[in-house]
Parts: sequence; C-alpha cells; structure tokens
Amino acid sequence: MEPLQGYRRPARGTQPEYLHPSYVSSQKRAPTQPLISLPDTISEITGPTFPREIVAPMAFDLTRQSKSQPLGERIVVSGQVLDEDNRPVRHSLVEIWQANAAGRYRHKADQHNAPLDPNFAGVGRTFTDEEGRYRFVTIRPGAYPWKNHPNAWRPQHIHFSLFGPAFATRLVTQMYFPGDPLLPFDPIFNSVPDEGARNSLISKFDWATTTPEIALGFRFDIILRGRYATPMER
Ligand SMILES: [Fe+2]
Repeated sequence: MEPLQGYRRPARGTQPEYLHPSYVSSQKRAPTQPLISLPDTISEITGPTFPREIVAPMAFDLTRQSKSQPLGERIVVSGQVLDEDNRPVRHSLVEIWQANAAGRYRHKADQHNAPLDPNFAGVGRTFTDEEGRYRFVTIRPGAYPWKNHPNAWRPQHIHFSLFGPAFATRLVTQMYFPGDPLLPFDPIFNSVPDEGARNSLISKFDWATTTPEIALGFRFDIILRGRYATPMER
C-alpha cells in the first residue's frame, strides 16, 4: 500500500491553546500529560461520506423552517471551504447552530432569561457546491451571558461543524461578526494566540451577497487542516 499522505502541521500559535486560564473550562479539559501522536489510517482519511438526502432542500434557510419568520435581523452567511492547498472542498457537509436574536438557544441547558422564538430552531445544514461554496440564510444571533467570570458575555457568533472529505479534516469552530465590542474580552476568541488566525474567525461584511431589501451579507471562508487551517474551537 502507498504510504498515506499527511497534513502539514498548523503554523505556530494559529490554533487555540489547550490551556487558556481565562477560559475557565479549559483548565479542566487541558491535557496534563504529553500528547501521543496517533497516525491517521485509512479510516480517518476516507470517510465518513453523507448522502444528499440527509440535507432537506430548505435546511440552508433558518428563516423558513416554521410557519412564520423568526424575529431579528435577517442575514446571509456564505463562504468557500478550502483545503490546505487552496483547493475547494466540494460536496461536503456544513452544519451551523446558533442562538436566536435575543441570545438564547433552543436547548434545555440554556436557561438565559431571554425569550425563545417559536419560529427559530437555530440549526442549519447544507453541502458545499462544485467550488466548495456554501450559503445560509439566518438571523443575526444575539450576545448572551455565560458563567465564565462575573458579567461575562459571549460575542455574537455562529457555531460551525464541517467534515470535509474525512474525519481527519473535521472542524468545529465559531464565526464572529466584524466590529463586535465583546471580541477583545472573549476568552474563547482570545485563546488563539496568533492575531491573524484569530481574526480569520471574524466574518467580513460582503456587498456581493448583501441582498437588496432582504438581508446583509457576511462572508466566512474556511480552511480545513494544514498550515493555515481555520482555528478549531477547544
Ligand atoms: Fe454559542
């Protein structure tokens, strides 16, 4: 068998630190022993693959999953998914989840004193196209408080999960919005040491996808694995 081709290591500081003390739960999760490298095998680089049927035709549009439209500012979020050599990652699953416009998730663990929206589930799915592009229509999520430290608030964000071609390219991350005043104070965002890598998690306002009379557009490109991989959420 041909030796399996590896992935380049991420450039120094471009992925979050396992231990970032101001992100309190990282103190419990961070490894306390040296890491052991497990080489990728055929299982990690060839799958999983997903049939088209697992994505409903309107699953990309989070504003049309109920009888009425959700409250909040409608937005378009789109971008291109690339591999470490800048090639498009085609036909691959992209999933998002997010809080509603008031900053609350529809989840029993979320007890934030803010209203749920009966018309917003906050979950979307799509496949990338021939050029690795994806597109969601959603509403801008609200900031929400969390228990990390007194008066802690998460900046507005959308959670992303991607598989790419295989488990080895799996990425779970968060997309932020330009100009958010909470970003300089957010321990999760700031757990990525390298400024450029950190800022790659901030979407860009995008006239090309801003839709007249409908929605502002934000662009968020994603790189799976390699030297300049989009930072993972830890
Ligand atoms: Fe969140």
